[in-house]
Amino acid sequence: MSVITYPDTVSATYERLKERLADVVPDVELRMKAETAVEVNRLKKEKNAIILGHNYMEPALFHSVPDYTGDSLYLARVSAKAQADIIVFCGVRFMAETAKTLNPTRKVLLPSAKGGCSLAESINGADVRALKKLYPGVVTVTYINCYAEVKAECDYVCTSGNAEAVVKHLLKEEHRKIIFLPDEYLAANTARETGMTIVYPERDAATGELRPAKEPPGAALVMIGWRGRCEVHDKFTPQDITNARKQFPDVTVLAHPECSPEVVALADYAGSTTQMIKYVENMKSGRYLLLTECSMGDNIASKNPQREMIRLCSVRCPHMNEITLEDTLASLKNEQYVIEVDEGIRKRSIQALDRMLAIG
Ligand code: 13P
Ligand code: SF4
Repeated sequence: MSVITYPDTVSATYERLKERLADVVPDVELRMKAETAVEVNRLKKEKNAIILGHNYMEPALFHSVPDYTGDSLYLARVSAKAQADIIVFCGVRFMAETAKTLNPTRKVLLPSAKGGCSLAESINGADVRALKKLYPGVVTVTYINCYAEVKAECDYVCTSGNAEAVVKHLLKEEHRKIIFLPDEYLAANTARETGMTIVYPERDAATGELRPAKEPPGAALVMIGWRGRCEVHDKFTPQDITNARKQFPDVTVLAHPECSPEVVALADYAGSTTQMIKYVENMKSGRYLLLTECSMGDNIASKNPQREMIRLCSVRCPHMNEITLEDTLASLKNEQYVIEVDEGIRKRSIQALDRMLAIG
């Protein structure tokens, strides 16, 4: 876990931002961003704070203030070990909540009052309890993109970076049926990779009650999914890939596993945001289509000028985009918005997180 360092003068910060972002952010804005970044980094020292920045953060923020940048898994690991008095989480609410769960004695701040996520909002604790009633004794895994009350009801957490490893771990432990929540597509993609059959319980239209899914006869390994979707990755279609390949026959297509199984099947590689970044960085050159939040393409492009990044920039995450460098400054200055997790829920959800972290 290596900490990122920044210059402490406005001119040096401006030069650094210009070197990385001249093609992405107008010069006049870069100068203002440099001033804000220097103030954020000064306050960080004064208040003994650290900033964690998800890979989807806007380029100026991403390149000027986070002590650590990465995907959900990496940032969860960093937050668990953080010694600072304050952790500012530049990401969405469920990520900040995870940091508070793993490191409850620190003050955790989210620079946005909302910071939602369509996956996290697709399920609640009562839904998981209803599923467990339908499938008594079946092991439960939840994608980290959910709130603490959902994690508290589950046995394991996973991220897009280790979903396959977590499921393989459970199969090794002789589980033949696994409840995997709440992302319909991540579940389907993971089921395919691990040789499981995916089914989805549906709600009775009249009563609203959950009904167990019909399982294909003879299916040895069954995954029970949920119909949550990422509103961003759901927008990518197989046609997007076909169109890109027609225009750029040499393009390498990378997809986040929150994309539909049809999209993932056509892509050259699927992985978490950091796994996609590493894939591109390990190549010396080339042209890449990233099927994920658009800011990440800018963040990779600025560090890897010899790679050409094609991205579909009508697809933005409205929740991640709520957080700007200016909000981060306000967050540190006013110590807002403080993330709290009910202690009973925290104690139960940390077990599921710890089991994931132990898998590696
Ligand atoms: P990663 O863990 O891959 O960074 O994904 C988080 C996320 O919200 C993707 O939409
Ligand atoms: Fe949630 Fe999708 Fe945004 Fe990620 S990109 S935070 S999964 S809505």
